[in-house]
Amino acid sequence: MSNSMLRLCLIFLTMSMMVFMSSAITPRVGFYRTSCPSAEAIVRKAVHKAVAKNPGIAAGLIRMHFHDCFVRGCDASVLLDSTPGKLSEKEHPANNPSLRGFEVIDQAKAELESLCPRTVSCADILAFAARDGALAVGGINYQVPSGRRDGRVSLFDDPSQDLPSPSSNAKELGDSFAPSKGFSLDEMVTLSGAHSIGVSHCSSFTNRLYSFNKTHPQDPSLDPKFARDLKAKCPPSSSNNVVQLDGLTPNRLDNKYYTNLMNHRGLFESDQTLLSSHSTAGMVRNNARLGPAWAKNFASAMVKMGSIDILTGRQGEIRKKCRVVN
Ligand code: HEM
Ligand SMILES: *[C@@H]1O[C@H](CO)[C@@H](O)[C@H](O)[C@H]1NC(C)=O
Repeated sequence: MSNSMLRLCLIFLTMSMMVFMSSAITPRVGFYRTSCPSAEAIVRKAVHKAVAKNPGIAAGLIRMHFHDCFVRGCDASVLLDSTPGKLSEKEHPANNPSLRGFEVIDQAKAELESLCPRTVSCADILAFAARDGALAVGGINYQVPSGRRDGRVSLFDDPSQDLPSPSSNAKELGDSFAPSKGFSLDEMVTLSGAHSIGVSHCSSFTNRLYSFNKTHPQDPSLDPKFARDLKAKCPPSSSNNVVQLDGLTPNRLDNKYYTNLMNHRGLFESDQTLLSSHSTAGMVRNNARLGPAWAKNFASAMVKMGSIDILTGRQGEIRKKCRVVN
């Protein structure tokens, strides 16, 4: 072979390797187009059916995707059941008993396994399901790059390190979103808008009503009427009750969350602090004013969240059942 032909061959080889690698490694929209064309439709149908019965499931799925992605990346580690002697993420108080929607993932996975066995990852199913929840209760639509693979590890203690607490202040919230997970403060404020749907157990915020600090048993940043309503729903001893996160439009994913903050009706300290902190107050006001801009930014931030530390290519596995490793 001549020298120049050899060179041409090499160039060709390198280029086809690059094309192959980018298609194998980069997550992309429509990853299952040939391997399982109805993958996204099947997830959507399962979500729509569940949300029609109970709109709270949309909230559950969006939160589940968040709790998956922030802990070990979006690898479906949050879906794994405990094994004998080894508790999984699912059992952590941040997830148990409040996380909901697992049966929707199981339903979609069962259908997908019979149609295209061992093809669609649980991590992708969860990312699709969160998107479909946002569409169902918020009319917010976006495309989800897919090709995530499933992890094989889920540890009880991990959520403590990675998930923010409802009593976090703005600085602590910034720390849990910014350096490690790559979000800007703006994106953090945008994502917090998810608290415009769903519910919270009283136990997540009753300290604000009864035992805030030595001089103020009640958090002075709470609107007094709001605090009275909350106390009626959450008497000191009933931490199992639940309260809607957004009293204005409880089942609609919209920008009313920010209106609530402006009215001092944020449920968690981690919500209200976004208005009381100088670094984020302006963002709260903007989002309260501009619903469509918030929705668009929310969609982009969800896509970004869905790309945190994902497994691709030959990493991890495609689980057969989302609750157990293969
Ligand atoms: C900013 C830091 C955040 C904190 C401290 C936080 C904390 C919480 C807490 C304590 C609950 C109530 C759990 C319970 O007691 O039942 C909750 C509910 C919820 N969170 Fe967050 N969260 C944060 C960010 C997010 C993000 C980024 C999303 C999604 C993009 C999200 C989505 C939700 C949803 C949808 C619910 C309602 C769940 C349901 O009704 O089942 N949260 N959050
Ligand atoms: C209690 O909280 C209020 C409002 O945040 C604050 O002004 C006050 O200094 C706090 N008191 C104590 C003892 O921490």
